[in-house]
Amino acid sequence: MKENVDMIVLGARQLLTCTAPHSPLRGEQMQQVGLIENGALAIHDGRIAAVGEQDEILQRYQSAQQLDCGGKVITPAFVDPHTHVVYAGDRVAEFELRIKGASYMEIMQAGGGILSTMRATRAATVQQLVDETTVRLHQMLRAGTTTAEVKTGYGLDTETELKLLQAIELLDKRHPITLIPTFLPAHAVPPEHEGRPDEYIQLIIDEMLPQAWAWYQQSHFAAQNIPFFIDVFCEEGVFTLEQSHRVLEAGKCLGMQVKAHVDEFAHLSGVPMALSLDATSVDHLDVTPPEDIAILAQSDVVAIVIPTVNFNLGSTHFADARAIIDSGAALALTTDMNPGSAPCPAMPMAMAVTCRYQKLLPSEALIASTINAAYGVGLADRVGSLEVGKWADFLIVDTTDYRHLAYQFGANLVEVVFKHGQQVI
Ligand code: NIG
Ligand code: FE
Repeated sequence: MKENVDMIVLGARQLLTCTAPHSPLRGEQMQQVGLIENGALAIHDGRIAAVGEQDEILQRYQSAQQLDCGGKVITPAFVDPHTHVVYAGDRVAEFELRIKGASYMEIMQAGGGILSTMRATRAATVQQLVDETTVRLHQMLRAGTTTAEVKTGYGLDTETELKLLQAIELLDKRHPITLIPTFLPAHAVPPEHEGRPDEYIQLIIDEMLPQAWAWYQQSHFAAQNIPFFIDVFCEEGVFTLEQSHRVLEAGKCLGMQVKAHVDEFAHLSGVPMALSLDATSVDHLDVTPPEDIAILAQSDVVAIVIPTVNFNLGSTHFADARAIIDSGAALALTTDMNPGSAPCPAMPMAMAVTCRYQKLLPSEALIASTINAAYGVGLADRVGSLEVGKWADFLIVDTTDYRHLAYQFGANLVEVVFKHGQQVI
Protein backbone atom coordinates (compact mmCIF):
# COMPACT_ATOMS: atom_id res chain seq x y z
CA MET A 1 0.00 0.00 0.00
CA LYS A 2 1.24 3.39 -0.98
CA GLU A 3 0.96 6.27 1.43
CA ASN A 4 -1.27 9.17 0.35
CA VAL A 5 0.26 12.63 0.43
CA ASP A 6 -1.02 16.11 -0.53
CA MET A 7 1.37 16.46 -3.43
CA ILE A 8 4.30 14.88 -5.22
CA VAL A 9 6.75 17.10 -7.08
CA LEU A 10 8.78 15.08 -9.57
CA GLY A 11 10.82 15.34 -12.72
CA ALA A 12 13.74 17.22 -11.23
CA ARG A 13 16.92 16.73 -13.22
CA GLN A 14 18.71 17.79 -10.03
CA LEU A 15 17.33 18.10 -6.53
CA LEU A 16 19.60 19.72 -3.94
CA THR A 17 18.80 18.80 -0.35
CA CYS A 18 21.44 21.03 1.37
CA THR A 19 21.10 18.76 4.40
CA ALA A 20 22.83 19.62 7.68
CA PRO A 21 20.72 18.34 10.57
CA HIS A 22 22.94 19.16 13.53
CA SER A 23 25.06 22.21 12.81
CA PRO A 24 25.95 24.56 9.95
CA LEU A 25 28.30 23.22 7.32
CA ARG A 26 31.86 24.46 7.67
CA GLY A 27 35.08 24.26 5.71
CA GLU A 28 35.01 21.63 2.96
CA GLN A 29 31.55 20.46 4.04
CA MET A 30 30.19 23.60 2.41
CA GLN A 31 30.59 21.90 -0.98
CA GLN A 32 28.18 19.11 0.04
CA VAL A 33 24.89 20.21 -1.53
CA GLY A 34 23.21 16.77 -1.39
CA LEU A 35 22.59 16.46 -5.12
CA ILE A 36 19.99 13.85 -6.14
CA GLU A 37 19.56 13.19 -9.86
CA ASN A 38 15.99 12.61 -11.05
CA GLY A 39 14.70 13.70 -7.68
CA ALA A 40 11.23 14.08 -6.22
CA LEU A 41 9.54 15.41 -3.10
CA ALA A 42 6.47 14.12 -1.26
CA ILE A 43 4.64 16.91 0.58
CA HIS A 44 2.04 16.61 3.30
CA ASP A 45 0.52 19.20 5.65
CA GLY A 46 2.91 21.85 4.36
CA ARG A 47 5.93 19.78 5.28
CA ILE A 48 8.31 17.45 3.50
CA ALA A 49 7.12 13.86 3.92
CA ALA A 50 9.90 12.34 1.81
CA VAL A 51 12.72 13.36 -0.46
CA GLY A 52 14.72 11.12 -2.78
CA GLU A 53 14.97 9.61 -6.21
CA GLN A 54 11.76 9.80 -8.19
CA ASP A 55 11.40 6.03 -8.68
CA GLU A 56 11.73 5.40 -4.99
CA ILE A 57 9.27 8.19 -4.04
CA LEU A 58 6.67 6.90 -6.55
CA GLN A 59 6.98 3.38 -5.15
CA ARG A 60 6.17 4.56 -1.64
CA TYR A 61 3.77 7.50 -2.15
CA GLN A 62 0.75 8.46 -4.21
CA SER A 63 -1.11 11.72 -4.61
CA ALA A 64 -4.01 13.19 -6.58
CA GLN A 65 -1.75 16.17 -7.14
CA GLN A 66 1.45 15.66 -9.07
CA LEU A 67 3.63 18.47 -10.34
CA ASP A 68 6.18 17.61 -12.99
CA CYS A 69 8.98 20.12 -13.11
CA GLY A 70 10.09 18.95 -16.52
CA GLY A 71 13.76 18.28 -15.93
CA LYS A 72 14.48 21.54 -14.07
CA VAL A 73 16.20 21.97 -10.71
CA ILE A 74 14.68 21.90 -7.20
CA THR A 75 16.50 23.69 -4.38
CA PRO A 76 15.50 24.75 -0.88
CA ALA A 77 14.03 28.26 -0.93
CA PHE A 78 16.53 30.90 0.13
CA VAL A 79 16.90 32.24 3.65
CA ASP A 80 18.06 35.87 3.75
CA PRO A 81 19.62 36.24 7.21
CA HIS A 82 20.22 40.03 7.37
CA THR A 83 17.83 42.65 5.98
CA HIS A 84 16.67 46.17 6.75
CA VAL A 85 13.67 45.82 4.45
CA VAL A 86 11.15 47.78 6.58
CA TYR A 87 11.56 51.51 5.91
CA ALA A 88 9.97 54.43 4.08
CA GLY A 89 11.28 56.37 1.11
CA ASP A 90 14.44 55.68 -0.85
CA ARG A 91 18.00 56.99 -1.13
CA VAL A 92 18.33 57.29 -4.87
CA ALA A 93 19.71 60.85 -4.54
CA GLU A 94 22.58 59.46 -2.43
CA PHE A 95 23.22 56.89 -5.12
CA GLU A 96 24.00 59.80 -7.43
CA LEU A 97 26.15 61.51 -4.79
CA ARG A 98 28.21 58.33 -4.47
CA ILE A 99 28.58 58.08 -8.23
CA LYS A 100 30.00 61.60 -8.11
CA GLY A 101 32.54 60.55 -5.47
CA ALA A 102 31.05 60.91 -1.96
CA SER A 103 31.61 57.89 0.29
CA TYR A 104 28.92 56.02 2.27
CA MET A 105 30.41 57.21 5.58
CA GLU A 106 30.78 60.84 4.39
CA ILE A 107 27.10 60.91 3.47
CA MET A 108 26.16 59.40 6.84
CA GLN A 109 28.32 61.88 8.76
CA ALA A 110 26.69 64.78 6.89
CA GLY A 111 23.29 63.72 8.27
CA GLY A 112 22.20 61.62 5.30
CA GLY A 113 22.38 57.85 5.06
CA ILE A 114 20.59 56.00 7.86
CA LEU A 115 19.36 59.35 9.30
CA SER A 116 17.75 60.26 6.01
CA THR A 117 15.76 57.02 6.06
CA MET A 118 15.02 57.65 9.75
CA ARG A 119 13.31 60.95 8.85
CA ALA A 120 11.13 59.29 6.20
CA THR A 121 10.35 56.36 8.52
CA ARG A 122 9.37 58.56 11.47
CA ALA A 123 6.98 60.43 9.17
CA ALA A 124 5.32 57.26 7.85
CA THR A 125 2.30 55.48 9.34
CA VAL A 126 2.41 51.77 10.09
CA GLN A 127 0.17 51.22 7.08
CA GLN A 128 2.54 53.14 4.79
CA LEU A 129 5.47 51.08 6.08
CA VAL A 130 3.54 47.86 5.50
CA ASP A 131 2.50 48.92 1.99
CA GLU A 132 5.97 50.04 0.88
CA THR A 133 7.64 46.99 2.38
CA THR A 134 5.14 44.57 0.84
CA VAL A 135 6.37 45.59 -2.61
CA ARG A 136 9.97 44.77 -1.62
CA LEU A 137 9.05 41.51 0.08
CA HIS A 138 7.35 40.50 -3.14
CA GLN A 139 10.54 41.18 -5.07
CA MET A 140 12.41 38.99 -2.58
CA LEU A 141 9.84 36.23 -2.89
CA ARG A 142 10.04 36.28 -6.70
CA ALA A 143 13.79 35.85 -6.39
CA GLY A 144 13.29 32.78 -4.19
CA THR A 145 13.48 34.03 -0.60
CA THR A 146 10.81 32.56 1.71
CA THR A 147 12.45 33.33 5.07
CA ALA A 148 14.09 36.63 6.00
CA GLU A 149 15.45 38.28 9.10
CA VAL A 150 14.27 41.92 9.38
CA LYS A 151 15.79 44.64 11.52
CA THR A 152 14.34 47.80 12.97
CA GLY A 153 16.84 50.67 13.10
CA TYR A 154 15.24 53.49 11.12
CA GLY A 155 13.17 54.77 14.04
CA LEU A 156 15.92 55.54 16.56
CA ASP A 157 13.34 56.65 19.12
CA THR A 158 11.12 54.48 21.28
CA GLU A 159 7.89 55.25 19.48
CA THR A 160 9.18 54.63 15.96
CA GLU A 161 11.27 51.56 16.83
CA LEU A 162 8.09 50.05 18.32
CA LYS A 163 6.17 51.11 15.20
CA LEU A 164 8.68 49.17 13.11
CA LEU A 165 8.20 46.07 15.26
CA GLN A 166 4.45 46.41 14.78
CA ALA A 167 4.94 46.68 11.01
CA ILE A 168 7.16 43.57 11.04
CA GLU A 169 4.47 41.56 12.83
CA LEU A 170 1.73 42.72 10.41
CA LEU A 171 3.94 41.88 7.42
CA ASP A 172 4.73 38.46 8.80
CA LYS A 173 1.01 37.74 9.12
CA ARG A 174 0.10 39.03 5.67
CA HIS A 175 3.00 38.02 3.46
CA PRO A 176 4.16 34.50 2.61
CA ILE A 177 7.77 35.24 3.64
CA THR A 178 8.49 34.13 7.22
CA LEU A 179 10.12 37.04 9.05
CA ILE A 180 12.48 36.87 12.02
CA PRO A 181 12.52 40.13 14.00
CA THR A 182 15.70 41.88 15.11
CA PHE A 183 15.82 44.98 17.29
CA LEU A 184 18.46 47.46 16.12
CA PRO A 185 17.94 50.79 17.90
CA ALA A 186 21.74 51.22 18.00
CA HIS A 187 21.98 51.67 14.23
CA ALA A 188 22.96 55.37 14.36
CA VAL A 189 22.89 58.20 16.92
CA PRO A 190 19.66 60.15 16.29
CA PRO A 191 19.74 63.98 16.07
CA GLU A 192 18.17 64.45 19.55
CA HIS A 193 21.28 62.83 21.05
CA GLU A 194 23.88 64.14 18.58
CA GLY A 195 27.32 64.20 20.17
CA ARG A 196 25.98 62.34 23.24
CA PRO A 197 25.93 58.68 22.18
CA ASP A 198 26.15 57.39 25.76
CA GLU A 199 22.93 59.18 26.60
CA TYR A 200 21.24 57.39 23.66
CA ILE A 201 22.71 54.04 24.72
CA GLN A 202 21.24 54.59 28.19
CA LEU A 203 17.82 55.34 26.69
CA ILE A 204 18.04 52.13 24.68
CA ILE A 205 18.89 50.10 27.77
CA ASP A 206 16.45 51.75 30.18
CA GLU A 207 13.43 52.29 27.94
CA MET A 208 13.59 50.77 24.46
CA LEU A 209 14.84 47.26 25.21
CA PRO A 210 12.28 46.51 27.95
CA GLN A 211 9.43 47.73 25.72
CA ALA A 212 10.71 45.75 22.74
CA TRP A 213 10.97 42.63 24.88
CA ALA A 214 7.42 43.13 26.18
CA TRP A 215 6.26 43.50 22.56
CA TYR A 216 8.00 40.25 21.59
CA GLN A 217 6.57 38.26 24.45
CA GLN A 218 2.99 39.02 23.42
CA SER A 219 3.74 38.79 19.69
CA HIS A 220 2.95 35.78 17.53
CA PHE A 221 6.72 35.34 17.02
CA ALA A 222 7.15 34.21 20.62
CA ALA A 223 4.05 32.02 20.26
CA GLN A 224 5.64 30.32 17.24
CA ASN A 225 9.02 29.94 18.90
CA ILE A 226 10.67 32.32 16.43
CA PRO A 227 13.63 34.02 18.11
CA PHE A 228 14.05 37.76 18.70
CA PHE A 229 17.50 39.21 18.11
CA ILE A 230 19.36 42.27 19.35
CA ASP A 231 21.84 43.85 16.94
CA VAL A 232 24.18 46.87 16.91
CA PHE A 233 26.22 48.82 14.33
CA CYS A 234 29.67 48.53 15.94
CA GLU A 235 31.70 50.90 13.79
CA GLU A 236 34.12 53.80 13.95
CA GLY A 237 32.03 56.99 14.09
CA VAL A 238 28.87 55.06 15.00
CA PHE A 239 29.02 52.95 18.21
CA THR A 240 32.21 51.97 20.00
CA LEU A 241 33.07 48.45 21.08
CA GLU A 242 32.16 49.30 24.66
CA GLN A 243 28.81 50.89 23.74
CA SER A 244 28.00 47.96 21.45
CA HIS A 245 28.78 45.49 24.22
CA ARG A 246 26.50 47.32 26.65
CA VAL A 247 23.52 47.20 24.28
CA LEU A 248 24.01 43.57 23.28
CA GLU A 249 24.53 42.45 26.86
CA ALA A 250 21.38 44.25 28.02
CA GLY A 251 19.36 42.62 25.22
CA LYS A 252 20.80 39.22 26.00
CA CYS A 253 19.92 39.60 29.68
CA LEU A 254 16.28 40.07 28.68
CA GLY A 255 16.33 36.92 26.52
CA MET A 256 17.20 38.24 23.06
CA GLN A 257 19.70 36.41 20.90
CA VAL A 258 22.73 38.30 19.69
CA LYS A 259 23.83 39.54 16.26
CA ALA A 260 26.28 42.31 15.44
CA HIS A 261 27.36 44.45 12.49
CA VAL A 262 31.14 44.27 12.85
CA ASP A 263 34.26 45.10 10.84
CA GLU A 264 32.41 46.75 7.95
CA PHE A 265 34.75 49.73 7.57
CA ALA A 266 37.02 49.70 10.64
CA HIS A 267 38.31 46.85 12.79
CA LEU A 268 37.16 47.45 16.38
CA SER A 269 37.46 43.81 17.58
CA GLY A 270 33.73 43.28 17.31
CA VAL A 271 34.14 39.56 16.58
CA PRO A 272 35.59 38.57 19.98
CA MET A 273 33.19 40.97 21.69
CA ALA A 274 30.15 39.37 20.02
CA LEU A 275 31.46 35.85 20.65
CA SER A 276 31.86 36.63 24.33
CA LEU A 277 28.06 37.12 24.32
CA ASP A 278 27.37 33.84 22.44
CA ALA A 279 26.29 35.62 19.27
CA THR A 280 24.32 33.61 16.71
CA SER A 281 25.94 35.55 13.86
CA VAL A 282 28.51 38.24 13.17
CA ASP A 283 27.83 40.19 10.01
CA HIS A 284 29.86 42.10 7.36
CA LEU A 285 33.48 41.08 8.33
CA ASP A 286 34.98 43.14 5.49
CA VAL A 287 38.12 44.06 7.43
CA THR A 288 38.30 41.18 9.91
CA PRO A 289 41.98 40.26 10.45
CA PRO A 290 43.28 36.66 10.31
CA GLU A 291 43.48 36.34 14.10
CA ASP A 292 39.75 37.09 14.42
CA ILE A 293 38.94 34.70 11.55
CA ALA A 294 40.78 32.02 13.52
CA ILE A 295 38.53 32.75 16.51
CA LEU A 296 35.45 32.47 14.27
CA ALA A 297 36.59 29.06 13.06
CA GLN A 298 36.76 27.80 16.65
CA SER A 299 33.23 28.96 17.44
CA ASP A 300 29.63 27.99 16.58
CA VAL A 301 28.85 31.45 15.25
CA VAL A 302 27.68 31.91 11.66
CA ALA A 303 29.86 34.37 9.74
CA ILE A 304 27.55 36.38 7.45
CA VAL A 305 29.23 38.17 4.56
CA ILE A 306 27.53 40.76 2.38
CA PRO A 307 29.14 41.13 -1.05
CA THR A 308 26.13 43.11 -2.34
CA VAL A 309 27.23 46.02 -0.11
CA ASN A 310 30.75 46.12 -1.53
CA PHE A 311 29.34 45.82 -5.03
CA ASN A 312 26.75 48.54 -4.45
CA LEU A 313 29.32 50.91 -2.94
CA GLY A 314 31.47 50.38 -6.01
CA SER A 315 34.24 48.79 -3.96
CA THR A 316 36.59 46.07 -5.08
CA HIS A 317 37.39 45.16 -1.48
CA PHE A 318 35.35 42.22 -0.17
CA ALA A 319 35.29 40.22 3.06
CA ASP A 320 37.79 37.37 2.85
CA ALA A 321 35.08 34.73 2.64
CA ARG A 322 37.52 32.25 1.15
CA ALA A 323 39.74 32.48 4.23
CA ILE A 324 36.69 32.26 6.50
CA ILE A 325 35.62 28.96 4.88
CA ASP A 326 39.13 27.58 4.51
CA SER A 327 39.84 28.24 8.18
CA GLY A 328 36.85 26.02 9.02
CA ALA A 329 34.20 28.58 9.95
CA ALA A 330 30.51 28.39 8.93
CA LEU A 331 29.69 31.04 6.35
CA ALA A 332 26.34 32.45 5.23
CA LEU A 333 25.39 35.00 2.60
CA THR A 334 22.83 37.78 2.66
CA THR A 335 21.57 40.59 0.43
CA ASP A 336 21.36 43.10 3.36
CA MET A 337 18.30 44.49 1.50
CA ASN A 338 18.24 48.15 2.61
CA PRO A 339 17.81 51.58 0.99
CA GLY A 340 21.43 52.66 1.34
CA SER A 341 24.23 50.14 1.27
CA ALA A 342 22.37 47.40 -0.66
CA PRO A 343 19.01 47.94 -2.36
CA CYS A 344 19.05 44.32 -3.52
CA PRO A 345 16.21 41.82 -2.98
CA ALA A 346 17.80 38.80 -4.69
CA MET A 347 19.95 36.12 -3.08
CA PRO A 348 21.08 34.90 -6.53
CA MET A 349 22.70 38.32 -7.00
CA ALA A 350 24.64 37.84 -3.76
CA MET A 351 25.62 34.37 -5.03
CA ALA A 352 26.78 35.76 -8.37
CA VAL A 353 28.98 38.39 -6.69
CA THR A 354 30.42 36.09 -4.02
CA CYS A 355 31.51 33.55 -6.63
CA ARG A 356 33.30 36.16 -8.70
CA TYR A 357 34.91 38.36 -6.04
CA GLN A 358 35.14 36.13 -2.98
CA LYS A 359 35.97 32.96 -4.93
CA LEU A 360 33.23 30.76 -3.53
CA LEU A 361 32.15 27.79 -5.59
CA PRO A 362 28.46 27.73 -6.59
CA SER A 363 27.99 24.81 -4.18
CA GLU A 364 29.37 26.88 -1.29
CA ALA A 365 27.25 29.87 -2.30
CA LEU A 366 24.12 27.67 -2.30
CA ILE A 367 24.84 26.28 1.17
CA ALA A 368 25.57 29.83 2.37
CA SER A 369 22.17 30.98 1.05
CA THR A 370 20.10 28.12 2.45
CA ILE A 371 20.97 25.89 5.40
CA ASN A 372 23.83 27.98 6.83
CA ALA A 373 21.68 31.11 6.55
CA ALA A 374 18.92 29.22 8.41
CA TYR A 375 21.36 28.53 11.24
CA GLY A 376 22.25 32.23 11.16
CA VAL A 377 18.67 33.14 12.10
CA GLY A 378 18.05 30.27 14.52
CA LEU A 379 15.51 28.54 12.26
CA ALA A 380 17.48 25.56 10.94
CA ASP A 381 15.00 23.17 12.55
CA ARG A 382 12.35 24.43 10.10
CA VAL A 383 13.89 25.88 6.92
CA GLY A 384 17.02 25.95 4.76
CA SER A 385 17.14 22.34 3.56
CA LEU A 386 14.91 19.66 2.03
CA GLU A 387 14.68 17.17 4.86
CA VAL A 388 11.78 15.11 6.18
CA GLY A 389 9.70 17.12 8.65
CA LYS A 390 10.86 20.53 7.52
CA TRP A 391 8.59 23.13 5.94
CA ALA A 392 8.02 22.49 2.23
CA ASP A 393 9.70 25.75 1.19
CA PHE A 394 11.39 25.11 -2.14
CA LEU A 395 12.08 26.48 -5.60
CA ILE A 396 11.85 25.20 -9.14
CA VAL A 397 14.75 26.80 -10.97
CA ASP A 398 14.66 27.13 -14.75
CA THR A 399 17.92 25.34 -15.50
CA THR A 400 19.25 21.78 -15.58
CA ASP A 401 22.37 22.54 -13.50
CA TYR A 402 22.07 24.32 -10.14
CA ARG A 403 25.40 26.08 -10.70
CA HIS A 404 23.62 28.35 -13.18
CA LEU A 405 22.05 30.11 -10.19
CA ALA A 406 25.42 31.79 -9.64
CA TYR A 407 26.87 31.49 -13.15
CA GLN A 408 24.14 33.50 -14.82
CA PHE A 409 23.25 36.88 -13.46
CA GLY A 410 20.80 39.68 -14.22
CA ALA A 411 17.92 37.37 -15.11
CA ASN A 412 15.73 35.55 -12.60
CA LEU A 413 15.98 31.77 -12.99
CA VAL A 414 13.58 31.17 -10.10
CA GLU A 415 10.40 30.04 -11.81
CA VAL A 416 8.22 28.57 -9.07
CA VAL A 417 8.26 29.27 -5.33
CA PHE A 418 6.60 27.05 -2.72
CA LYS A 419 5.99 28.14 0.87
CA HIS A 420 4.59 25.68 3.42
CA GLY A 421 3.66 23.40 0.52
CA GLN A 422 1.68 26.11 -1.30
CA GLN A 423 2.71 27.59 -4.62
CA VAL A 424 3.14 31.33 -3.97
CA ILE A 425 4.89 32.27 -7.23
O1 NIG B 1 24.13 46.59 6.99
N1 NIG B 1 25.90 49.06 8.16
C1 NIG B 1 24.86 49.44 8.69
N2 NIG B 1 23.62 49.13 8.33
C2 NIG B 1 23.24 48.74 7.02
C3 NIG B 1 23.07 49.90 6.11
C4 NIG B 1 21.79 50.58 6.35
C5 NIG B 1 21.59 51.79 5.49
O2 NIG B 1 22.50 52.27 4.80
O3 NIG B 1 20.44 52.26 5.52
C6 NIG B 1 24.19 47.70 6.49
O4 NIG B 1 24.97 47.95 5.56
FE1 FE C 1 22.94 45.69 8.02
